[in-house]
Formats: sequence, structure tokens, C-alpha cells
Amino acid sequence: MSNETLQAVRGMNDILPDEAERWLWFEDTVRGWLDSYGYRNIRMPLLEPTALFKRAIGEVTDIVEKEMYSFADSLNGDQLTLRPEGTASCVRAALQHNLLYNAPQRLYYSGAMFRHERPQKGRYRQFHQIGVEALGFAGPDIDAEQILMCARLWRQLGLRDITLQLNTLGDAAARQRHRAKLINYFEQHSSVLDADATRRLHSNPLRILDSKNPAMQQVIAAAPGLMDELEQDALTHFDAVQQILRRHEIAFEISPRLVRGLDYYNRTVFEWTTTRLGAQGTVCAGGRYDGLIEQIGGQSAPACGFAMGIERLLALMQEDGMASPAATLDVYLVHQGEQAGVMAGKIAEQLRDAGLRVVLHCGGGSFKSQMKKADASRAPYAVIIGDNEVQAGMATLKPLHGGEQVQLAFGELPGKINQLLKG
Ligand code: HAM
Repeated sequence: MSNETLQAVRGMNDILPDEAERWLWFEDTVRGWLDSYGYRNIRMPLLEPTALFKRAIGEVTDIVEKEMYSFADSLNGDQLTLRPEGTASCVRAALQHNLLYNAPQRLYYSGAMFRHERPQKGRYRQFHQIGVEALGFAGPDIDAEQILMCARLWRQLGLRDITLQLNTLGDAAARQRHRAKLINYFEQHSSVLDADATRRLHSNPLRILDSKNPAMQQVIAAAPGLMDELEQDALTHFDAVQQILRRHEIAFEISPRLVRGLDYYNRTVFEWTTTRLGAQGTVCAGGRYDGLIEQIGGQSAPACGFAMGIERLLALMQEDGMASPAATLDVYLVHQGEQAGVMAGKIAEQLRDAGLRVVLHCGGGSFKSQMKKADASRAPYAVIIGDNEVQAGMATLKPLHGGEQVQLAFGELPGKINQLLKG
């Protein structure tokens, strides 16, 4: 058997404790923000039937065609997929458990998503999203509220330079007409199309507009626009979203070419992007998906949502010089001698009873080596107990970031430390 060191799967990252502290801080902030808008948490499985994503995201999309981790369950042959996104699962769960019966729902989830993309900075094969879904809401007020929510979060996180791109995709009928015109137009320019575009011409011509191929840009720029096909209802909806954003002084750019990579969207779509993360600058994206609930088997109901990439937002916060989160420990308890060990165990529990975060030194060693560990722990205080102290019923309380040490009776420790931490 080979004993070479095993590595994580490419594009799937370990999040080590220093970094995980930032994640926890981020997740706490986000939870408070979601609470303040009345969104409730939902947790779905990581594995779903492959058919769910094919039906929801669309057969002719990059995600379904080439990025899904799909396999047959070796026990019963079921076709399964590690979720590449959360909207389809969230809608599936809401329908399966009748959450939408007469009651719209504001839901959010947080967790790992999986896409077999080429890994690079900001693009991973396992990445993490916070997803927000409002199910059963038709009006432009909720589209705008979700955008306002995002703007508030960027303020709370202290993030700068995130721009909002906005577009409307109209409704199904308008998109059908536009699609027919696009096919017709690109057929007339078939000699310019590359292999990818030719393959998509009849299945998903809208995606051709996303192509980065320089040789096709001129033809793409002159392609028929969707705006000409939009019906009054969709235009009125889009106007109302913009009006609310203006009222709240949220800056945005209209991007007619913003089409998104998932097929379930209609009407409002949006992306928040930054130029400070290189090629993977979209930190948050979403829009309306009024057809999806019916497509997954429910009674037709409108909906709107978005998801943000946690890795990208944290990277941006580091670019902005985010301060390290506060220390996660209050006391490191140093002890030497048999009786002192027994007493230290008791005192550690008493300090925890008083709400303090305590590491009790384990593994013996000299006072000196234990004090080194106490310094490295980043705790603001060490409590030191030796057998002499046990005889006297006293411990030494030593501030680790400067200040005089003091002798205290065991019973005084919890109160004194809490008082010092508050002061
Ligand atoms: P999405 O645009 O595919 O939309 O992903 C949303 C966000 O997830 C992106 O803006 C990005 O920040 C992050 N993200 C996507 N792929 C990766 C990756 N490979 N590595 C790192 N971060 C990534 C959705 O997933 C929709 N479900 C959003 C939505 C919710 N629409 C309506 N409701």
C-alpha cells in the first residue's frame, strides 16, 4: 500500500482555524442581517436527484452540461448530483413539505455547492453560498427589497466598490419571440459562429450573447435585443423596481446583455460585481424565477432570490483590510503539581459556569513552557496554580497583554476576570 500523503480534491479547500474565525464572524453578521428582514433558515440535503437540476437549471447550460458532480448510486442505480446551487433544492423542499400552501415564504440557506469548473482564484469546485429565496411574491417590491438588503449587507461588512448590474428578461412569451429572432439572425451569420455557438444555436441561442470570442463580438453587438419584445407588464414591473432603488439612493447600471447562466430566470435579474477580485468579480447574483415552482411540479407561484459567494466576499473583505475578529478565548489555565492539577480542573469548570471561555492546559511541562502556550493562545489572561497556591487557597491572575499580576482567592477569580473583561 502506498503511504504518500493524501491531499484534498483539487478545487476543494480546507478552511483552517485562523480563517474559520473570519467565517464564523461573517456568518454571525449575515444571520443578524437575514433576521432583520424576516428570512427563516432552511437546510436541504447536499445530494439531490440529477433530474431536479436538469429540469430547473436547464439541459443546455454550462452547469448541467459540464459542471455537475453526478453519479449512479452504487446500491440502487439512482442518478444523483451534488448540488451545484441551492434554488432548485429550496423550491423542491418547499413543495415537498407544502410550505407554500396559502403562505408566501422568505427562506435562506447557507452551505457548500459543487461545480466541476477549472479552479482559479475565486473559483472553486466546492464553494459556499448564502442563498435567499422569497417564494410566492409577485410584486416589484420584493425584487427591490432583496437588492436593498444586499446594499445594507455591503455597508455592514464595510465593503466598498461593489456595483449593481440590473436587467429584465421579460416573460416567457417575449423570450420565445426573441429566441426565434435570434436563431433567425444567427443563422444568417452562421459563418462567424464558433463550435460552441453553432451547437447552441437551436437549443439555447441566448447563451451565444455571453460568448467572449472576439471574432463574434461584432455580430453579437448587432443581434436583435430582447427590449423590443418586452410586454407592458414586464416593463412596468422593471420601472417600479428601478423607482424603489432610486428612492433609496441605490446606484445601478442597466446591462441589457446580463442574461445569467441558469435558465429559470424571468423579468428582473441582477449581479453585484467588483473589479478588485480579478476575473471572478461577481460576489452576488440572482433574480426573479416565476416559472420554476410550476416547472418542479408545484402550482404556479412567483418567486425571487439571490445567492452570494462566501469565499469571494471574504476575499474582498481581506482586500479592504478587514480587522481580525476578536479573541475567542478569555483564560489559559496553567498548573503544576498533583493537587494543583485537581484544583485547576475544578476552577476551569467554575470559570466556564461564569460564562468565560477557558483552555485548561493539558500535557504537563514546566511553568515556562506552559506560559509560552498561554501567550500563543491569544487569551488576555492566564490563571496560574501551583501546589503552594493550593495550600494558600490562592491563584495568580496574570494579564498577558501587559499589566500587573495579582493574587486572588479561588472564589474571587470568576467575578474579577469578568469585571476586567468588561472594563
Ligand atoms: P450563481 O450566479 O450561479 O447563482 O451563483 C451565485 C454566486 O455564487 C456567484 O455570484 C458567486 O459569488 C458564487 N459562485 C458561483 N460559482 C462559484 C465558484 N465556482 N466558486 C466560488 N464562488 C462561486 C446561483 O447559484 C443562483 N442559485 C442564485 C439565485 C438564488 N437565484 C435566485 N435565487
